[in-house]
Amino acid sequence: MANLETTVNGLKLPNPFVIGSGPPGTNANVIGKAFDEGWGAVIAKTISLEAEKVINVQPRYARLRSRESQEIFGWENIELISDRKFDVWIDEFKETKNKYPDRILIASIMEEYRKDAWVEIVQRCEEAGVDAFELNLSCPHGLPERRMGSAMGENPELAKEVCGWVMDVAKVPVWAKMTPNVTRIQDPSRAALEAGCDGISAINTIRSVLGVDLKTLRPEPSVEGYTTPGGYSCQAIKPIALRMCMEVAQLIHEEFPGRTLSGIGGVETGEDAAQFILLGCDTVQVCTGVMKRGYGIIKPMLEELSTFMDSHSFGSIEDFKGHSLQFFTTHAELVRLQAEARAAKKAEFEAKAADDKMIREDASWTGEDFVKQSDALSRG
Ligand SMILES: Cc1cc2nc3c(=O)[nH]c(=O)nc-3n(C[C@H](O)[C@H](O)[C@H](O)COP(=O)(O)O)c2cc1C
Repeated sequence: MANLETTVNGLKLPNPFVIGSGPPGTNANVIGKAFDEGWGAVIAKTISLEAEKVINVQPRYARLRSRESQEIFGWENIELISDRKFDVWIDEFKETKNKYPDRILIASIMEEYRKDAWVEIVQRCEEAGVDAFELNLSCPHGLPERRMGSAMGENPELAKEVCGWVMDVAKVPVWAKMTPNVTRIQDPSRAALEAGCDGISAINTIRSVLGVDLKTLRPEPSVEGYTTPGGYSCQAIKPIALRMCMEVAQLIHEEFPGRTLSGIGGVETGEDAAQFILLGCDTVQVCTGVMKRGYGIIKPMLEELSTFMDSHSFGSIEDFKGHSLQFFTTHAELVRLQAEARAAKKAEFEAKAADDKMIREDASWTGEDFVKQSDALSRG
């Protein structure tokens, strides 16, 4: 039977499943629920020193459903960070740690571009007993107007400076949470790791416009008839999250061995989690999945992950972490590998390609067989 326990930056987790910052960690009550259900750690909703500046709107979510099953696979939000008072949060951190002394509670923090504010928020949360920090350098809406959130994560120099302020005073592990709304996620990740952060979390939501209501002609989510671009999450973003985690994992492997990676984006099953771990993640976070299906999804997720591990005889997370990174290469190398394989098995390849209607040259595409030809070229 696989052992799901894992130690990350010295933090001992019963399993690698972490509640991602957002509504599922928005007060002591729901954080307690997550621990009771068996989540490995909880990252609380992002907090700041001045909650009175945070004013949310309703509605603030819009969702994309599959045409046939109606299952939600895409989720946009224009929610800000926590609107609850900092002092209330400090009390709840203390209360939670008293009730769950052995469980890992991570504070997600965000502040304006002022060193004294970052130092204060770190020190006061630490005094309340939190086990680690996640720096929210990545929220894509609302707060960038105050040079917070993704305004910092999109700018490696700014990210490095802010992470440096935190690392000067933090006594517990610190992860920097990255925005996907950049061309190269390695650049701000490298900046945070150079500043000394212990790990990277990736990804936050993708800047998006979910759709336009064709009756009212208003974009969604519509607030008094208007909207603002929000952050996209849920299953639809998993491929982008996996790609970005793979890139950050390669960076860590090559330049910062020993630092850690927490993968986030569209995780809803143990098999999803296994894929993030195979691409180098130490832990896997879930936010929208809990909003869709509740805290109880942890139980099937644990079972699915251990079934996967047993099927490959992996005894621990460490046994397969990063295993699949070795199978990424350049396109030129794919061409070379394929030419080599075809030369070795020429007759077999040609028979299979003819049989599958597999396109070998662009001139072979036809209007009549277009969908079949696309299928034949696909996996899955
Ligand atoms: C409604 C909502 C609120 C969120 N609030 C925060 C937040 O306060 N801080 C933060 O770092 N990320 C926040 N996120 C982003 C998630 O933590 C996560 O990075 C993202 O949603 C992708 O993961 P998922 O597909 O599992 O939700 C929020 C996401 C949603 C859907």
